[in-house]
Amino acid sequence: MTIRNLDDLLAEGVSGRRVLVRADLNVPLDKQTGAIGDDGRIRAVLPTLTALTGAGAKVVVFSHLGRPKGAPDPQFSLRPVAARLGELLGAEVRFAEDTVGDSARSTVEALADGDVALLENLRFNKGETSKDDAERGAFADQLAALGEAYVDDAFGAVHRKHASVFDVPARLPHVAGRLVLREVEVLAKLAGEPERPYVVVLGGSKVSDKLAVIETLLPKVDRLLIGGGMCFTFLKAQGHEVGTSLLEKEMVETCRNLLERADGKILLPVDVVAADAFAPDAAHDTVRADAIPSHRVGLDIGPETVAGFAAALAEAKTIFWNGPMGVFEMPAFAGGTRGVAEAITSADAFSVVGGGDSAAAVRALGLDESSFGHISTGGGASLEYLEGKTLPGIAALED
Ligand code: 3PG
Ligand code: MG
Repeated sequence: MTIRNLDDLLAEGVSGRRVLVRADLNVPLDKQTGAIGDDGRIRAVLPTLTALTGAGAKVVVFSHLGRPKGAPDPQFSLRPVAARLGELLGAEVRFAEDTVGDSARSTVEALADGDVALLENLRFNKGETSKDDAERGAFADQLAALGEAYVDDAFGAVHRKHASVFDVPARLPHVAGRLVLREVEVLAKLAGEPERPYVVVLGGSKVSDKLAVIETLLPKVDRLLIGGGMCFTFLKAQGHEVGTSLLEKEMVETCRNLLERADGKILLPVDVVAADAFAPDAAHDTVRADAIPSHRVGLDIGPETVAGFAAALAEAKTIFWNGPMGVFEMPAFAGGTRGVAEAITSADAFSVVGGGDSAAAVRALGLDESSFGHISTGGGASLEYLEGKTLPGIAALED
Protein backbone atom coordinates (compact mmCIF):
# COMPACT_ATOMS: atom_id res chain seq x y z
CA MET A 1 0.00 0.00 0.00
CA THR A 2 1.33 3.38 -0.93
CA ILE A 3 0.00 6.86 -0.44
CA ARG A 4 0.98 9.48 -2.97
CA ASN A 5 1.53 12.96 -1.64
CA LEU A 6 1.38 16.53 -2.80
CA ASP A 7 4.84 16.42 -4.37
CA ASP A 8 3.70 13.63 -6.69
CA LEU A 9 0.78 15.74 -7.82
CA LEU A 10 2.95 18.84 -8.26
CA ALA A 11 5.39 16.79 -10.31
CA GLU A 12 2.59 15.93 -12.72
CA GLY A 13 1.87 19.64 -13.08
CA VAL A 14 -1.20 21.36 -11.70
CA SER A 15 -1.11 24.63 -13.59
CA GLY A 16 -4.61 25.51 -14.76
CA ARG A 17 -6.09 22.42 -13.10
CA ARG A 18 -8.91 22.59 -10.57
CA VAL A 19 -7.62 20.93 -7.41
CA LEU A 20 -10.00 20.11 -4.55
CA VAL A 21 -8.48 20.40 -1.09
CA ARG A 22 -10.37 18.89 1.86
CA ALA A 23 -9.24 20.94 4.86
CA ASP A 24 -10.34 20.82 8.49
CA LEU A 25 -11.21 24.45 9.12
CA ASN A 26 -13.39 23.50 12.07
CA VAL A 27 -12.17 26.31 14.31
CA PRO A 28 -13.76 27.54 17.53
CA LEU A 29 -16.10 30.52 17.01
CA ASP A 30 -17.13 32.89 19.80
CA LYS A 31 -20.84 32.26 20.53
CA GLN A 32 -21.62 35.96 21.01
CA THR A 33 -19.47 37.69 18.42
CA GLY A 34 -18.88 34.87 15.94
CA ALA A 35 -15.17 35.76 15.97
CA ILE A 36 -12.62 33.02 15.30
CA GLY A 37 -10.92 31.88 18.51
CA ASP A 38 -7.89 29.76 17.76
CA ASP A 39 -6.92 29.81 14.06
CA GLY A 40 -4.31 27.05 14.34
CA ARG A 41 -6.18 24.77 11.95
CA ILE A 42 -6.35 27.47 9.29
CA ARG A 43 -2.63 28.15 9.54
CA ALA A 44 -1.85 24.42 9.45
CA VAL A 45 -3.21 24.05 5.93
CA LEU A 46 -1.35 27.04 4.43
CA PRO A 47 1.74 25.09 3.24
CA THR A 48 -0.43 22.87 1.05
CA LEU A 49 -2.44 25.78 -0.30
CA THR A 50 0.56 27.96 -1.13
CA ALA A 51 2.33 25.05 -2.83
CA LEU A 52 -0.70 24.62 -5.08
CA THR A 53 -1.33 28.29 -5.81
CA GLY A 54 2.39 28.79 -6.45
CA ALA A 55 2.21 26.04 -9.05
CA GLY A 56 -0.75 27.73 -10.76
CA ALA A 57 -3.57 25.46 -9.62
CA LYS A 58 -7.15 26.65 -9.27
CA VAL A 59 -7.64 25.70 -5.64
CA VAL A 60 -11.08 24.74 -4.32
CA VAL A 61 -11.09 24.29 -0.54
CA PHE A 62 -13.89 22.59 1.35
CA SER A 63 -14.44 21.86 5.02
CA HIS A 64 -16.97 21.25 7.74
CA LEU A 65 -17.54 23.59 10.69
CA GLY A 66 -19.30 22.43 13.84
CA ARG A 67 -22.14 19.96 13.66
CA PRO A 68 -25.05 21.46 11.70
CA LYS A 69 -27.79 18.96 10.94
CA GLY A 70 -27.56 18.51 7.17
CA ALA A 71 -29.12 21.87 6.26
CA PRO A 72 -27.87 25.47 6.07
CA ASP A 73 -27.50 27.08 9.51
CA PRO A 74 -25.99 30.58 9.57
CA GLN A 75 -24.18 30.14 12.89
CA PHE A 76 -22.01 27.48 11.22
CA SER A 77 -21.19 29.44 8.09
CA LEU A 78 -17.58 29.28 6.89
CA ARG A 79 -17.73 32.89 5.65
CA PRO A 80 -15.64 34.30 8.55
CA VAL A 81 -13.11 31.54 7.93
CA ALA A 82 -12.80 32.57 4.28
CA ALA A 83 -11.92 36.09 5.41
CA ARG A 84 -9.29 34.84 7.87
CA LEU A 85 -7.85 32.45 5.31
CA GLY A 86 -7.54 35.33 2.88
CA GLU A 87 -5.67 37.43 5.45
CA LEU A 88 -3.26 34.60 6.17
CA LEU A 89 -2.69 33.86 2.49
CA GLY A 90 -2.38 37.54 1.65
CA ALA A 91 -4.77 36.98 -1.25
CA GLU A 92 -8.50 37.11 -1.82
CA VAL A 93 -10.39 33.91 -1.07
CA ARG A 94 -13.60 33.68 -3.08
CA PHE A 95 -16.46 32.35 -0.97
CA ALA A 96 -19.24 30.21 -2.40
CA GLU A 97 -22.56 30.41 -0.57
CA ASP A 98 -23.34 26.77 -1.12
CA THR A 99 -21.31 23.60 -1.47
CA VAL A 100 -22.37 21.99 -4.74
CA GLY A 101 -25.01 24.42 -6.04
CA ASP A 102 -25.02 27.35 -8.45
CA SER A 103 -22.82 29.53 -6.26
CA ALA A 104 -20.17 26.81 -5.94
CA ARG A 105 -20.22 26.07 -9.68
CA SER A 106 -19.94 29.69 -10.76
CA THR A 107 -17.29 30.47 -8.13
CA VAL A 108 -15.15 27.57 -9.31
CA GLU A 109 -15.77 28.50 -12.93
CA ALA A 110 -14.48 32.03 -12.32
CA LEU A 111 -11.18 30.95 -10.76
CA ALA A 112 -7.98 32.02 -12.50
CA ASP A 113 -4.74 30.08 -12.16
CA GLY A 114 -3.38 30.50 -8.61
CA ASP A 115 -6.76 31.58 -7.16
CA VAL A 116 -8.39 30.08 -4.08
CA ALA A 117 -12.09 29.50 -3.37
CA LEU A 118 -13.71 28.23 -0.18
CA LEU A 119 -17.07 26.47 -0.42
CA GLU A 120 -19.78 26.74 2.25
CA ASN A 121 -19.94 24.17 5.07
CA LEU A 122 -20.03 20.58 3.78
CA ARG A 123 -22.37 19.58 6.60
CA PHE A 124 -25.11 21.85 5.25
CA ASN A 125 -25.72 18.83 3.01
CA LYS A 126 -27.25 15.58 4.30
CA GLY A 127 -25.06 13.48 2.04
CA GLU A 128 -21.82 14.54 3.74
CA THR A 129 -22.28 12.55 6.95
CA SER A 130 -24.90 10.04 5.79
CA LYS A 131 -24.50 6.42 6.86
CA ASP A 132 -26.15 5.40 3.60
CA ASP A 133 -23.45 4.70 0.97
CA ALA A 134 -25.69 5.74 -1.92
CA GLU A 135 -26.67 9.05 -0.33
CA ARG A 136 -23.04 9.83 0.49
CA GLY A 137 -21.98 8.70 -2.94
CA ALA A 138 -24.46 10.96 -4.72
CA PHE A 139 -23.14 13.96 -2.82
CA ALA A 140 -19.54 12.87 -3.51
CA ASP A 141 -20.36 12.74 -7.25
CA GLN A 142 -21.38 16.40 -7.12
CA LEU A 143 -18.30 17.42 -5.16
CA ALA A 144 -15.95 15.47 -7.41
CA ALA A 145 -17.44 17.16 -10.47
CA LEU A 146 -16.01 20.46 -9.25
CA GLY A 147 -12.37 19.35 -9.56
CA GLU A 148 -9.83 17.26 -11.42
CA ALA A 149 -7.71 16.09 -8.48
CA TYR A 150 -8.20 15.68 -4.73
CA VAL A 151 -5.84 16.56 -1.89
CA ASP A 152 -6.68 15.48 1.65
CA ASP A 153 -5.22 17.88 4.20
CA ALA A 154 -7.97 17.51 6.79
CA PHE A 155 -6.15 15.43 9.36
CA GLY A 156 -8.69 16.34 12.07
CA ALA A 157 -11.42 14.59 10.05
CA VAL A 158 -9.65 11.48 8.70
CA HIS A 159 -11.43 9.32 11.27
CA ARG A 160 -14.81 10.22 9.76
CA LYS A 161 -16.35 8.12 7.00
CA HIS A 162 -17.83 11.17 5.33
CA ALA A 163 -18.39 11.93 1.66
CA SER A 164 -15.65 14.57 1.40
CA VAL A 165 -13.16 12.40 3.28
CA PHE A 166 -13.93 8.89 2.09
CA ASP A 167 -15.97 8.95 -1.13
CA VAL A 168 -14.53 11.85 -3.13
CA PRO A 169 -11.00 10.35 -3.24
CA ALA A 170 -12.50 7.21 -4.77
CA ARG A 171 -13.68 9.36 -7.69
CA LEU A 172 -10.57 11.45 -8.44
CA PRO A 173 -6.77 11.14 -8.51
CA HIS A 174 -5.95 11.60 -4.82
CA VAL A 175 -2.95 12.52 -2.68
CA ALA A 176 -2.16 13.40 0.94
CA GLY A 177 -1.42 17.05 1.61
CA ARG A 178 1.57 18.32 3.57
CA LEU A 179 -0.29 18.39 6.89
CA VAL A 180 -1.75 14.90 6.62
CA LEU A 181 1.65 13.54 5.59
CA ARG A 182 3.43 15.13 8.56
CA GLU A 183 0.75 14.06 11.04
CA VAL A 184 0.87 10.46 9.88
CA GLU A 185 4.69 10.37 9.94
CA VAL A 186 4.78 11.63 13.51
CA LEU A 187 2.03 9.34 14.80
CA ALA A 188 3.54 6.34 13.04
CA LYS A 189 6.68 6.97 15.07
CA LEU A 190 4.70 6.84 18.32
CA ALA A 191 2.75 3.77 17.24
CA GLY A 192 5.97 2.00 16.20
CA GLU A 193 9.02 1.90 18.46
CA PRO A 194 9.12 5.19 20.36
CA GLU A 195 12.34 6.02 22.17
CA ARG A 196 11.97 5.21 25.89
CA PRO A 197 10.92 6.19 28.43
CA TYR A 198 7.61 6.84 26.64
CA VAL A 199 5.32 8.94 28.83
CA VAL A 200 1.72 9.70 27.93
CA VAL A 201 -0.34 12.43 29.60
CA LEU A 202 -4.11 12.18 29.24
CA GLY A 203 -6.71 14.69 30.37
CA GLY A 204 -10.06 15.95 29.21
CA SER A 205 -13.43 15.26 30.66
CA LYS A 206 -14.44 11.70 29.89
CA VAL A 207 -12.82 8.35 30.59
CA SER A 208 -15.27 6.74 28.18
CA ASP A 209 -13.77 8.75 25.27
CA LYS A 210 -10.26 7.65 26.19
CA LEU A 211 -10.86 4.08 27.26
CA ALA A 212 -9.84 2.46 23.98
CA VAL A 213 -6.64 4.46 23.75
CA ILE A 214 -5.76 3.74 27.39
CA GLU A 215 -6.20 0.02 26.70
CA THR A 216 -3.93 0.19 23.65
CA LEU A 217 -1.33 2.42 25.23
CA LEU A 218 -0.99 0.73 28.59
CA PRO A 219 1.25 -2.13 27.42
CA LYS A 220 3.34 0.30 25.31
CA VAL A 221 4.05 3.15 27.69
CA ASP A 222 6.40 3.46 30.64
CA ARG A 223 4.15 5.92 32.44
CA LEU A 224 0.57 7.12 31.97
CA LEU A 225 -0.24 10.39 33.77
CA ILE A 226 -3.95 11.10 34.20
CA GLY A 227 -5.44 14.52 34.98
CA GLY A 228 -8.41 16.57 33.81
CA GLY A 229 -12.04 15.79 34.50
CA MET A 230 -11.50 12.10 33.85
CA CYS A 231 -9.16 11.71 36.85
CA PHE A 232 -12.09 11.82 39.27
CA THR A 233 -13.54 8.55 38.05
CA PHE A 234 -10.13 6.99 38.68
CA LEU A 235 -9.90 8.60 42.13
CA LYS A 236 -13.34 7.17 42.88
CA ALA A 237 -12.09 3.77 41.74
CA GLN A 238 -9.28 4.13 44.31
CA GLY A 239 -11.99 4.50 46.94
CA HIS A 240 -11.96 8.29 47.37
CA GLU A 241 -14.95 10.61 47.50
CA VAL A 242 -14.84 13.26 44.75
CA GLY A 243 -17.48 15.78 45.91
CA THR A 244 -19.42 17.20 42.99
CA SER A 245 -16.56 16.64 40.51
CA LEU A 246 -17.18 15.06 37.10
CA LEU A 247 -17.85 11.39 37.63
CA GLU A 248 -18.76 8.62 35.21
CA LYS A 249 -20.30 6.16 37.66
CA GLU A 250 -20.63 3.40 35.09
CA MET A 251 -16.86 3.61 34.42
CA VAL A 252 -15.65 3.23 38.02
CA GLU A 253 -15.37 -0.55 37.79
CA THR A 254 -13.51 -0.30 34.47
CA CYS A 255 -11.07 2.19 36.00
CA ARG A 256 -10.50 -0.06 39.01
CA ASN A 257 -9.71 -2.88 36.63
CA LEU A 258 -7.31 -0.71 34.62
CA LEU A 259 -5.49 0.36 37.79
CA GLU A 260 -5.08 -3.27 38.82
CA ARG A 261 -3.59 -4.19 35.46
CA ALA A 262 -1.43 -1.07 35.16
CA ASP A 263 1.48 -2.40 37.21
CA GLY A 264 2.00 1.01 38.80
CA LYS A 265 2.38 2.72 35.42
CA ILE A 266 -0.65 4.97 35.96
CA LEU A 267 0.00 8.13 37.99
CA LEU A 268 -3.05 9.91 39.41
CA PRO A 269 -3.33 13.31 41.10
CA VAL A 270 -2.38 13.48 44.77
CA ASP A 271 -3.88 16.95 45.17
CA VAL A 272 -6.56 18.90 43.31
CA VAL A 273 -7.90 22.44 43.17
CA ALA A 274 -11.46 22.20 44.46
CA ALA A 275 -13.98 25.04 44.06
CA ASP A 276 -17.41 26.00 45.37
CA ALA A 277 -18.80 26.18 41.83
CA PHE A 278 -17.88 25.82 38.16
CA ALA A 279 -17.16 29.55 37.73
CA PRO A 280 -14.06 31.69 37.13
CA ASP A 281 -14.46 33.56 40.43
CA ALA A 282 -15.56 30.62 42.62
CA ALA A 283 -13.87 30.25 46.02
CA HIS A 284 -11.29 27.44 45.80
CA ASP A 285 -8.49 25.66 47.65
CA THR A 286 -5.93 22.99 47.02
CA VAL A 287 -6.94 19.81 48.84
CA ARG A 288 -5.60 16.26 49.06
CA ALA A 289 -7.04 14.02 46.35
CA ASP A 290 -8.41 11.73 49.08
CA ALA A 291 -10.10 14.58 50.94
CA ILE A 292 -12.23 16.49 48.45
CA PRO A 293 -15.06 18.17 50.45
CA SER A 294 -18.50 16.82 49.52
CA HIS A 295 -19.81 20.22 48.30
CA ARG A 296 -16.79 21.03 46.15
CA VAL A 297 -15.92 20.39 42.51
CA GLY A 298 -12.38 19.56 41.38
CA LEU A 299 -11.41 21.89 38.53
CA ASP A 300 -7.65 21.37 38.24
CA ILE A 301 -4.79 19.19 39.41
CA GLY A 302 -2.80 20.63 42.31
CA PRO A 303 0.84 21.81 42.51
CA GLU A 304 2.17 18.65 44.15
CA THR A 305 0.65 16.61 41.32
CA VAL A 306 2.21 18.93 38.75
CA ALA A 307 5.59 18.41 40.43
CA GLY A 308 5.16 14.63 40.34
CA PHE A 309 4.07 14.65 36.70
CA ALA A 310 6.95 16.98 35.85
CA ALA A 311 9.43 14.57 37.43
CA ALA A 312 8.11 11.72 35.29
CA LEU A 313 8.18 13.90 32.17
CA ALA A 314 11.76 15.02 32.86
CA GLU A 315 12.91 11.41 32.39
CA ALA A 316 10.98 10.88 29.15
CA LYS A 317 12.44 10.55 25.66
CA THR A 318 9.03 10.44 23.97
CA ILE A 319 5.89 12.25 25.16
CA PHE A 320 2.31 12.23 23.91
CA TRP A 321 -0.13 14.64 25.53
CA ASN A 322 -3.88 14.76 24.90
CA GLY A 323 -6.38 16.71 26.97
CA PRO A 324 -6.12 19.62 29.39
CA MET A 325 -5.41 18.97 33.10
CA GLY A 326 -8.11 21.36 34.29
CA VAL A 327 -10.48 24.12 33.22
CA PHE A 328 -7.63 26.10 31.66
CA GLU A 329 -10.02 28.65 30.12
CA MET A 330 -10.45 30.03 33.67
CA PRO A 331 -7.15 31.47 34.96
CA ALA A 332 -7.73 30.16 38.50
CA PHE A 333 -7.80 26.60 37.13
CA ALA A 334 -5.12 26.82 34.44
CA GLY A 335 -2.11 26.07 36.65
CA GLY A 336 -2.15 22.32 36.07
CA THR A 337 -2.34 22.52 32.29
CA ARG A 338 0.32 25.24 32.21
CA GLY A 339 2.60 23.32 34.59
CA VAL A 340 2.37 20.09 32.61
CA ALA A 341 2.84 21.92 29.29
CA GLU A 342 5.96 23.63 30.63
CA ALA A 343 7.32 20.34 31.93
CA ILE A 344 6.82 18.85 28.47
CA THR A 345 8.71 21.67 26.76
CA SER A 346 11.54 21.42 29.34
CA ALA A 347 12.00 17.68 28.81
CA ASP A 348 14.72 16.50 26.46
CA ALA A 349 12.14 14.45 24.56
CA PHE A 350 10.27 14.24 21.28
CA SER A 351 6.87 15.61 22.25
CA VAL A 352 3.56 15.38 20.45
CA VAL A 353 0.51 17.38 21.46
CA GLY A 354 -2.63 15.62 20.25
CA GLY A 355 -5.76 17.38 19.59
CA GLY A 356 -8.06 20.28 19.43
CA ASP A 357 -8.28 21.19 23.13
CA SER A 358 -4.69 20.60 24.14
CA ALA A 359 -3.40 22.39 21.04
CA ALA A 360 -5.75 25.30 21.76
CA ALA A 361 -4.52 25.30 25.39
CA VAL A 362 -0.90 25.61 24.25
CA ARG A 363 -1.78 28.70 22.24
CA ALA A 364 -4.28 30.19 24.71
CA LEU A 365 -1.69 29.99 27.51
CA GLY A 366 0.80 31.80 25.31
CA LEU A 367 3.29 28.90 25.25
CA ASP A 368 5.90 28.70 22.54
CA GLU A 369 4.52 26.28 19.93
CA SER A 370 7.95 25.64 18.47
CA SER A 371 9.17 24.09 21.73
CA PHE A 372 6.95 21.08 21.09
CA GLY A 373 8.01 18.42 18.61
CA HIS A 374 4.63 18.38 16.88
CA ILE A 375 1.22 19.84 17.59
CA SER A 376 -1.47 17.72 15.99
CA THR A 377 -4.58 19.30 14.50
CA GLY A 378 -6.64 16.20 15.22
CA GLY A 379 -7.97 15.22 18.64
CA GLY A 380 -10.18 12.24 17.88
CA ALA A 381 -8.13 11.43 14.78
CA SER A 382 -4.79 11.18 16.59
CA LEU A 383 -6.31 9.05 19.34
CA GLU A 384 -7.90 6.68 16.84
CA TYR A 385 -4.61 6.44 14.95
CA LEU A 386 -2.81 5.46 18.17
CA GLU A 387 -5.57 2.95 18.94
CA GLY A 388 -4.54 1.24 15.71
CA LYS A 389 -7.92 1.77 14.06
CA THR A 390 -8.30 2.02 10.31
CA LEU A 391 -8.96 5.66 9.49
CA PRO A 392 -11.37 5.99 6.54
CA GLY A 393 -9.68 9.15 5.26
CA ILE A 394 -6.24 7.51 5.21
CA ALA A 395 -7.49 4.22 3.79
CA ALA A 396 -9.13 6.14 0.95
CA LEU A 397 -5.76 7.58 -0.08
CA GLU A 398 -4.03 4.20 -0.34
CA ASP A 399 -3.46 2.68 -3.74
C1 3PG B 1 -12.80 17.90 15.33
O1 3PG B 1 -12.90 19.07 15.65
O2 3PG B 1 -12.63 16.98 16.15
C2 3PG B 1 -12.80 17.55 13.87
O3 3PG B 1 -12.92 18.71 13.11
C3 3PG B 1 -13.91 16.57 13.57
O4 3PG B 1 -15.14 17.12 13.91
P1 3PG B 1 -16.34 16.15 14.33
O5 3PG B 1 -15.92 15.53 15.64
O6 3PG B 1 -17.54 17.02 14.46
O7 3PG B 1 -16.47 15.12 13.24
MG1 MG C 1 -14.08 16.14 17.80
